[in-house]
Amino acid sequence: MKTLLTLLAASLVATSAQAATADGAQVFEKWCAPCHAPGIEHPGTHALEAKYKGVKSSFITDWTDVTPEYVKLMVRTGISVMPHFRKTEISDAELNALANYVIRKH
Ligand code: HEC
Repeated sequence: MKTLLTLLAASLVATSAQAATADGAQVFEKWCAPCHAPGIEHPGTHALEAKYKGVKSSFITDWTDVTPEYVKLMVRTGISVMPHFRKTEISDAELNALANYVIRKH
């Protein structure tokens, strides 16, 4: 039993250490880039090209007019055909890192 608890404690520590060092670029690559990488073959980039008609970039990481809170809201609620993402997919720590990555050009 003691061994089990030690193992459990060790894995909890490992999990929180991982969350604390969440890498926004990696989260973006995994969850967002399939739809939001540059190029209209990506459905998110394509949709934003049509939506903003060149008024602003269709590549969300070029945007300088949105806050991290806005990015988090989009990720948690989804918009139009973009799905929302659960905490089991993107944790709060990963979402913070992701939002800061997306708005990094500010
Ligand atoms: C399955 C494809 C898909 C995935 C995966 C996806 N998106 Fe989207 N996203 C879209 C589409 C399509 C739109 C345009 C929706 C519309 O027409 O308003 C969009 C729009 C957005 C917008 C802009 C909304 C606006 O017009 O102001 C943001 C910000 C955004 N996505 C962030 C993200 C982030 C961050 C991720 C990764 C967690 C992500 N998206 C993952 C498809 C996707």
